[in-house]
Amino acid sequence: MRHKNTAAMREFLKGYRAVDEENVYPTDQQERLPMPPMEVRRGGETTALPERDVSPLGVLLENRCSRRSYGGGPLTLEELSFLLWAAQGVKTVNEYRTLRTAPSGGARNPLELYVFVNNVAGLAPGVYHYLALEDKLERLGCRANQADQLTCALAGQEFAGRAPVCLVWTAVPYRSEWRYDSHGHKDILLDAGHSCQNVYLACEELGLGCCALAAYDQEALDELLGLSSAETDSKEAEFAVYACCAGRPA
Ligand SMILES: Cc1cc2nc3c(=O)[nH]c(=O)nc-3n(C[C@H](O)[C@H](O)[C@H](O)COP(=O)(O)O)c2cc1C
Repeated sequence: MRHKNTAAMREFLKGYRAVDEENVYPTDQQERLPMPPMEVRRGGETTALPERDVSPLGVLLENRCSRRSYGGGPLTLEELSFLLWAAQGVKTVNEYRTLRTAPSGGARNPLELYVFVNNVAGLAPGVYHYLALEDKLERLGCRANQADQLTCALAGQEFAGRAPVCLVWTAVPYRSEWRYDSHGHKDILLDAGHSCQNVYLACEELGLGCCALAAYDQEALDELLGLSSAETDSKEAEFAVYACCAGRPA
């Protein structure tokens, strides 16, 4: 029996729609209300923490940042392969779950991963689906003006639409709802965050730059991926929830 909130929770996972823009009220920042404090102070006794030893992971974390300029030429297929594996790579499978490079609530792994390829040596531009179970790329097609359309779908963020690659995570919410009903939706977005952080660290390791993207037009991005947003209530429903572009800094 499906919870009455399921449809509303699915809607909550989605990005904005261009047609809704005029209904967005001014935010408190736009109204120039004071910014909330950056940290909560509870007034307890404090202990200074020791300096950290330098470790390879520590260096990656220290240097990680969002990079939005990619003038350094194409990615190699090996680099793209590493990013996809870091994001969603399957390590073990049994009949009811996969274990992957990123953690997932209840190992439900409700995400799919797509990649808009614009400049990868040896791989034709187009949109591809990462078949994580087989560790393969499935080509879905290419539009002549893919970079322009992707820029539009990414709320006009040209650096992202024209980046060598742009990963897009979609959710198949029923994979989580099947076990958790409407308690599963929170995990879907948390899973996407874990996966994207893996991409950030993988890029840092490879000397690439990337930038997470939550500003996108839901209908436009779903349409570019060939997903129909009309089927929103079905068990097969799938829609974009997050993206991350990547490239080689100049
Ligand atoms: C959930 C999320 C959504 C984001 N969406 C965008 C976006 O749409 N466009 C963009 O340029 N940066 C986006 N960013 C990147 C943030 O602006 C960036 O992480 C933040 O300014 C901190 O900078 P840093 O990543 O260099 O530490 C997003 C980051 C996160 C985690």
